[in-house]
Amino acid sequence: MKRIEAIIRPSALRAVLDGLKAVGYSGVTVSEVQGHGTQKGITESYRGQSVEGLLPKLAITVVVGDKQVNKVIQIIARTARTGEIGDGKIFVSPVLTAIRIRTGEKGEKAL
Ligand SMILES: Nc1ncnc2c1ncn2[C@@H]1O[C@H](COP(=O)(O)OP(=O)(O)OP(=O)(O)O)[C@@H](O)[C@H]1O
Ligand SMILES: [Mg+2]
Repeated sequence: MKRIEAIIRPSALRAVLDGLKAVGYSGVTVSEVQGHGTQKGITESYRGQSVEGLLPKLAITVVVGDKQVNKVIQIIARTARTGEIGDGKIFVSPVLTAIRIRTGEKGEKAL
């Protein structure tokens, strides 16, 4: 299993969720975060939106089986991309296990 964390523009949320739903992924976590990339929030900041170089972003977390990783990455990259700086980034890391609390199911069965 892998944990896919995508930092995206808040305006891309609907397209990303719709894209994931369309191919049948159900579990997702969305968090409000602040961050900056290589431009340090400077060139992206306008209309007084940035605080000390940090811009509002959303973190989308999806845990999937290894076979689904590339598909999910493609969906997120396609639906979150505008081509402008600040489109975001996708990080992939290993997940040791998952447990569905209600049933006690473990591993991919719990996703
Ligand atoms: N190396 C990193 N580690 C952790 N978070 C990061 C990293 N790079 C980017 N982020 C997060 O992703 C958000 C979007 O990054 P961003 O798309 O601006 O990356 P970038 O490398 O500057 O690319 P671009 O040149 O396309 O803007 C940042 O606001 C930050 O929250
Ligand atoms: Mg940037």
